[in-house]
Order: sequence, then C-alpha cells, then structure tokens
Amino acid sequence: MNYGYFDDENKEYVINRPDTPLPWINYLGTKDFFGIISNTAGGYSFYQDAKLRRLTRYRYNNIPMDSNGRYIYIKDGSSVWNPTWKPINVELDNYECRHGLGYSKITGEKDDLEVSILYFIPPEARNEIWHVEIKNKSNTDKNIRLWSFVEWCLWDAQDDMTNFQRNYSIGEVEVEGSAVFHKSEYRERRNHYAYFSTDAEISGFDTARDEFVGVHNGLSNPIAIKKGECKNSIAHGWLPIGVHQIDVDLKPGDIKSINFLLGYAENPKDAKFNSDGSIVKSEFYNTKEKFSNSDKVLEAFQNHKKYWDNLLSNFSVQTEDPIVNRMANIWNQYQCMVTFNMSRSASLYESGIGRGMGYRDSNQDVLGFVHMIPEWARQRILDIASTQLSDGTCYHQYQPLTKKGNSDIGGGFNDDHLWLLLSVSAYLKESGDKSILFEKIGFADIPNSDAALFDHLKISIQYTLDNLGPNGLPLIGHADWNDCLNLNCFSTEPGESFQLAGHIENDRIAESVMIAGLFCKACDEMAGILNFIDQPNESIIYAEYANQMRQTIINKGWDGDWFLRAYDSFGNKVGSKDCEEGKIFIESQGWSVLGNVGIENGMAQKALDSVSQILATKNGIMLQQPAYKSYHLHLGEVSSYPPGYKENAGIFTHNNTWIQIAETLIGRGDKAMEYYKAICPPSKEDQIDIYRSEPYVYSQMTAGNDAATTGEAKNSWLTGTAAWSFVALSNYILGIQPDYNGLIINPCIPKEWNNFKVIRKFRNSTYQIEIINQSKKSKGITTILVDNLEIEGNKIPLFEDNKTHKVLVTM
Ligand code: BGC
Ligand code: NOJ
Repeated sequence: MNYGYFDDENKEYVINRPDTPLPWINYLGTKDFFGIISNTAGGYSFYQDAKLRRLTRYRYNNIPMDSNGRYIYIKDGSSVWNPTWKPINVELDNYECRHGLGYSKITGEKDDLEVSILYFIPPEARNEIWHVEIKNKSNTDKNIRLWSFVEWCLWDAQDDMTNFQRNYSIGEVEVEGSAVFHKSEYRERRNHYAYFSTDAEISGFDTARDEFVGVHNGLSNPIAIKKGECKNSIAHGWLPIGVHQIDVDLKPGDIKSINFLLGYAENPKDAKFNSDGSIVKSEFYNTKEKFSNSDKVLEAFQNHKKYWDNLLSNFSVQTEDPIVNRMANIWNQYQCMVTFNMSRSASLYESGIGRGMGYRDSNQDVLGFVHMIPEWARQRILDIASTQLSDGTCYHQYQPLTKKGNSDIGGGFNDDHLWLLLSVSAYLKESGDKSILFEKIGFADIPNSDAALFDHLKISIQYTLDNLGPNGLPLIGHADWNDCLNLNCFSTEPGESFQLAGHIENDRIAESVMIAGLFCKACDEMAGILNFIDQPNESIIYAEYANQMRQTIINKGWDGDWFLRAYDSFGNKVGSKDCEEGKIFIESQGWSVLGNVGIENGMAQKALDSVSQILATKNGIMLQQPAYKSYHLHLGEVSSYPPGYKENAGIFTHNNTWIQIAETLIGRGDKAMEYYKAICPPSKEDQIDIYRSEPYVYSQMTAGNDAATTGEAKNSWLTGTAAWSFVALSNYILGIQPDYNGLIINPCIPKEWNNFKVIRKFRNSTYQIEIINQSKKSKGITTILVDNLEIEGNKIPLFEDNKTHKVLVTM
C-alpha cells in the first residue's frame, strides 16, 4: 500500500490516505510552546514541559489510538464530518495531510466542500494558529455550520489522568467575546491561563464537555452537533473544553478563512486579577492583535518558513543519491531540532510524563543540532551540566520547566557523565566560544557552589578513573548506554525497575567495554579542549589516560573476533564466543573503534567484519546475537524482551550510526553507506506496511530477525539516531568536520560516487565545497584548493569574514 510521498521542493511529506499503518505525527513549535500533531489532527499542546504545563488533553492507551486533538467539525446540509477524517471517520472524497517543518496542513473534501487547516506555531510564540480555509467547489450556495474543539488538560498531565476526585471540582473557565479562557487553579497558585479564540463571529460556544459531547457519547458523535446547536455552557468543574460554533455562507466558488488561536499566557503574581476577579488578559490581547486576520497569519507563516530555510542553510548537500540529500537537507536536520527540544519526553510513544530531558540523551542530541543554533546548544549544555553532582555522577534526567534533576527513572548509569565531553567539544569546535568553559554553574548537590563547566569536565573523567573494575575497565553501574544491560540489579518481582531493584552487594565487579571506548573518546576530546585553551601539559595527561584505556581494551576487552561487551558481576564475559546467547553486541564494536582502539592492529576491521557477518540485516544491524530466549536475572532487562525486540536483538538504530562511523574510520565508505541506507526511513517506503512507522523520521528500533514481525519499526521520532545519523553523514561520510581552528575535509564515500557538493556555514564564513572523486575511491584527498589556492593538509583555515569561499577538493 502507498500512503504518501515526499515533496522535497516544499520540504513536506504528503500523506494521501488517512488510515496510515500507525498515526504519523509531526511537531509544532521551535521554542517553549510545542505541540504534537498526527495526520488526522490528533495530539496536544504544552508550554515548555509536557508534564507540568500541558494545555490540552490527550488519551494515550486509548481505542482508537491517537484520541483527542485539534478538531474541526463541519455540518453541510445533513452531513457531518471532519476535514481531518477523525474523530467521526466519515469517508472523505479527498484527503491530504502535508507534514512540513514545524507545521501540518490537513485538507479534507466532501460533497464539493473543501476545508483545509494549517496548524503552526510562529517562531518563539506562545500560541498556535489554526488557519482554516473553506472553499465551496459546488455550483450551489452552501450554508454550513462549523465547530472547533479542544479539551483542556488541567496543567499537570500526570495528575490530570489520575486525580479525578479533586479535578472534577476545580475546572474553571471564562468566556469573553469569541475567546474561551481556561483558568483552572488560577484563583490559587497558578499565574498562567490558556485561551482558545477565533477571529470569526461565533453563533455559540461550549466550555462544558458534558453539554457538548455528552456523558455517554464520544468525539465521533457529540450530542450538541447532533442537535445542531451549542448550549453556551460554562464549565464548573468536570471537564472543561473550548468549542466555537460558527456559521459560514458560501456562494459557488467562495473561499472563506477563519483563524483560531490556542495559547498560553502568564501574569505577574501580584497582577493576576481585574477588579471584578476576572483574569488580566493583556498578553492574550497582544497576541490576538498580532494575528488578528488572515493576512497577518499568513505573513507569520511565511516567516516561519523562512526561519526554517535559514536554519537549514547552515548545512546542505548535493549528492548523486536523492535519499541522502532529502535526509541531510530536510528531515534529519528537522528531527535533530525536535530531539533537541523534546529529548525523550513527548511523542506518541513517550507520554510526556514518564521521562524529561535525559542527561545522556540531551548531550547526544546537541551533536546533531549545534550547527543550527549554537547559542541554544550552549544553554542546553549548561542546563544539563548543572544537574551533575559534585562526585561526578549525574541525575539521569531533569524536568524542562524546573531544570531540576530527578531520580524517577533511576541513577548510577556509569556512562552519563562522559557524554558531556562530547557535547562540549562539539560546541567549542562549532563556535570557538571558550567562555562556556568558565560559566559558573555549580553542582546540583552543593548550594551556591561556583564550580565552572570546566570543573564538570574534569570530574567526569575523574569519576570513571575512580571507578574501574578488576580488569581495569570502567564499572558499569546500573547500566551504560544500554539501559537494559543491568549487571548489578537482580530484579525478581514484576513491576520493579530493572535499573534500581535488586541492587546486589558486590557491585564493583561488572565492567563495560562500551564505556571504556567512550572514555577513550572523551579523554581525547578533553585533550583537544585543553590544547584549545593553551594547557598543552594538562592535555598530555588526558591523552595518556586514553592510551592506557586503549591498551586495557586490547588486553582485556578483546574476544578473538570482536570486542567483548562487558564482564558481569561474577566476573564472567558478556558478549563472547563463550556465551551461549548474546555472543556479540554492537555497542562495544562501535565504541572501541570510535575510541580509536584497534584501528592500527587490525582488531577494528576484524570486529567490523564480525558485525557484518553476524549482526547486519537488510533492515539494519541487530543489537546482539543470538537473542536471549529466557530471562537472565544477572543480565537484567535486556533479556526481558521477547527475542528480536528492543535491546534484546532488535535493530536499535541509534547504535547503527556508530558502526557507520566506525566503517569510515577504517576507510570503508561503501559499507558505511550500506548501513546508512539500511535504516534510512525513506528507503522503507516500499515495505511500509511492514515498517508501519513514519518514513520521514527515524524510529528508535526495528524488529530484528528473531522477532515475529521482522522489519516493523517502533518508537518514532525521539531517538539519539537523529543526531548521530546527522553526525555520521555530515562529519564522517561526507567528512565535513568542524575543528577548533578550521574545517576539516575528510570524506569516506561509496567508491562509485563521482562527486558531491556541500555548503557549510562555519564561524561566520560560508564554505562552498565541491568534492571530485576522480580516482573512484572511498577515502583520501589529493588536493584542496581554497579560493583557487592550494592548501597543505586537509584543514581549511578559519576566515571569520562573512564571505563565501570556494573549496575544490580532489580525491
Ligand atoms: C527501554 C529503554 C529505555 C528505558 C528508559 C527501557 O525499558 O528498553 O530503551 O531507554 O526503558 O527508562
Ligand atoms: C533509550 C534511551 O533514551 C537511551 O538513553 C538509551 O541509551 C537507549 N534507550 C538504549 O537503552
């Protein structure tokens, strides 16, 4: 089946039937105010924090999936339908959803009436806009009635879906003109409210769900619509909603537009109330004025599109492969923005409640985003690092609203702290801004501490040095990057956290080869940072730490044909030919090579050959083999999943990117590209009924060969795959690598490529790079001309001159 196609020209994915294999979602918003939206207008909106400032209600775990959203109901004669198909699901004569960058436009047509809704959030606004266009394509007059619908969430999404005994009594609204204000808890401790307004004249409204939908009805048959009329209800407790009723008369050929604003506003604590006790609404009035008619709204939309064109212009590429171009120039960068903003908090698979900003996740997300808006990356790095404790350990996640770390999903992940080295060095290379290192952000456990970011880097390395196991490899703690390899937690009771429960007594035996590789990389980055700030003697110390650890990996982490994964808490090998199951794992192959282990002595190549022989499939590389068939108490969650899913031998796309990079490090450009394409979403379009997830963004995992549903993807959007795929492609395959004092050109491409072009904005200059693969090889540069002059080596110097420079590279 075919559900849509890419419109690269418009940077959109066009879905042309609503019954996609799963809801295919998109994101609205770039900063602070966000929404998720499906191809049938399901989803919700929130301000800054999907858990603590949820504006509208969504029902996860519902039948059907993707229930509740931003709906428009149309009554045209006797027929009632939604242009977004859901929730009534009346068959449309035409349907189209265009998911674009930060906006979605959904169009439905029935009986010669076409209704389209453009949903977007202007850059940095605290509101979303629904621009509705109604077209009478028939040759008779039409007098239609339209209803808008949102259901308010009582702000705290967790409490909202659990604490009904209180919540059914606290809901409050105000109605003024054609605006509905949601103000639950405003009379006490909240100084924010939400609004839903329209620029059209309304013929009615409702704010009480029981009056509009009915207690025994659903969104597919609201009683008010059946009766044809709203009740102008005011919600007192129960379930507040926002509904406008609007009458539209259209002559043949008429097009009319209506705009809706859904937004969030705040007041100073001591200036919340008017004298009559109503909400002070000045922020709303300002916003309403700003978007008071379609001209202003469409201008804001054009600005929104320009904003995105500008963001994407920092990096663009033209290769012979349209899929590579599409991902690199549009969708991968877009997904990097989304993961940067959301971390692992809000998607169709992350409830917005369970997880916030992950320490390891967000550090990695920075890697794919830093070239777009380095200043935002700077702030994010400081926010993340501020949640580190003075002993080097980290809160595994923090809430975006409060920026405070918490242990809700455990702690003691012994890789967390090391990712900071990677994000900081990436930021420094991109921006050259040393000042970040000396920002005094303190430690989370010491009030008023004035530790600088630089101290965090040092303590991060030190933590690993202080926590080595019997073989000299880093202790794994509750887990490393693989949350599910829980070698120190022996969980026996259902429902326990695998990362917390059953913590064993002797927890200083289990070691991780993956962390060891990551540590080598982190030390190399630290050495680079120290050179950059003129501390060459200190730098040598860290380079030496890396060298020692490389030796340890070679001595204790090698299994003959690949790198071991770990030692368990009994000192036995994990990921070895001696194991019955889980003989070879992907992460330690990737990270040993990324940590520069075994590239010279052939181990790297041997390990990657083993990956290719044992783990690689046409859908990507499986996490390990053979899959665990039963639960192994001493290995943890990894063995809890049915074989082929998630960390138990699923294809975890995130770690596939490390193998892509590793292949470039040993010069195998064809292999790197083969792996890149194997997990590339657009290349799944021809097997989409198996794949099921969105073909325009990465999903966290695809079911592996052991699964009953091999090739089926799950958990789209919020995955480290986004950032790392961008890094793998831009820095390693195309080989355009920002460095402290220049731009390195070091491609590793498929041999058959003739040439490619990259435009890279870097440190206030634009580099127009053309690479000619004259001798049909994967790696190795013969000459580089910069503005027609040959340079030595492969690093283009910094110009920082606001000019464009032509770079001609011959391989
Ligand atoms: C999943 C991991 C995830 C973790 C988050 C586990 O159940 O398998 O992929 O990172 O939960 O806490
Ligand atoms: C998803 C988590 O967000 C990430 O932190 C982790 O590394 C992977 N799962 C693998 O377990």
